[in-house]
Amino acid sequence: MSEHIKIERKDGIVTLTFARPDKKNALTNAMYGVLADQLISAETDPTARVIVLRGEGDMFTSGNDVGEFAGIATGSIRGERHVSRFVRALAQSSRPLVAAAQGRAVGIGTTMLLHCDFVVLADNAQLSTPFVNLALVPEAASTLLMPLRVGHARAFEMFAFGDAMDAQAALDFGIANRVVPLDRLHAEADQVAARLAKLPAGSLAATKRLMRNPAALTAQIEAESERFAERLTTAEAREAFIAFAERRPPDFMKVA
Ligand code: COA
Repeated sequence: MSEHIKIERKDGIVTLTFARPDKKNALTNAMYGVLADQLISAETDPTARVIVLRGEGDMFTSGNDVGEFAGIATGSIRGERHVSRFVRALAQSSRPLVAAAQGRAVGIGTTMLLHCDFVVLADNAQLSTPFVNLALVPEAASTLLMPLRVGHARAFEMFAFGDAMDAQAALDFGIANRVVPLDRLHAEADQVAARLAKLPAGSLAATKRLMRNPAALTAQIEAESERFAERLTTAEAREAFIAFAERRPPDFMKVA
C-alpha cells in the first residue's frame, strides 16, 4: 500500500490520484505497486468501467523518483520493481483510460499518456521525456508509440534533448484530446469519464483492443526494460543521479 495514491470509486469510475505533491508526485515503487494492482483488479471488476489518472498539486507527476533510480543503481534498493507491472498493466488494460494532466508531466508522466485513451490537458501542461538526460532510455513502449504519434524526427528530439512540449502542441500532434483552462481540468475529465462509463463496456473494450496491440507493446516494453536495467548501472547514469542530488547540471563530457 502507499498513502501517496488516492483511490476513489464512484458510478463505474475508478479515479487514481498521484498524491505526493511535496515531491511533485514523483512515483515510487510503492506507488507503482498500488497503481498496478488497481489496473489489474479493474480487469475483473465489472464496476470499474473507466479509470481516471490524475495528480494533486501543481503538476501531474515529475516522473520516476530519481532517488530510487540511484538506489537501484547502487544496489541499496532491491526486490520487485512494480513499475514493470504498472507499465504492462497499462499496455494490457481493456478499460478506457482517461488522464487529466496539469503542469509538468515528466518521463513516465508523459509516456503513460500514450497508453491513455482520452487525454485532457490543462493549458499549462508541459510534456517531457528526459530519459537521455538521465543517461537512461525511454520506457513504457514509448520508443514505439511516440514516433507513431508525433513522427520520428520530433520523437527523437524529445527523447534526446528532453525539451518540453506544451499543451497546444500535444493537442496538435494527437497526444491530447482536449486542452482546457486549469480550473476546468478535473471537471472536464470527470465529464468525459462519466460519458464513457455509460457506453457499452464490451463494445468499448473490443474497440480498444482492435486499436491497440498489447502483444507488440509488451514486447517493446521487454526490450526497453533490458536496456534500461543495463543503463542504470553505467557511469553516465551515476553522474546524472549525483548531479540531480547535488542540484547541478550533469557533466557527461567527463565520463569516459
Ligand atoms: N524524483 C525525486 N524527487 C523529486 C523528483 C523526482 N523525479 N522531482 C521533484 N522531486 C523533489 C525535489 O528533489 C524537491 O525535493 P526537496 O523539496 O526535498 O528538495 C521537491 O520534489 C520539489 O522539486 P523542485 O525541483 O524544487 O520543484 P521545481 O518546481 O523547481 O521543479 C521539476 C520541478 C519536475 C522540473 C524538477 O523537480 C525536476 O526536474 N525533477 C526531476 C524530473 C526527472 O528527471 N524525472 C525522471 C524522468 S525519467
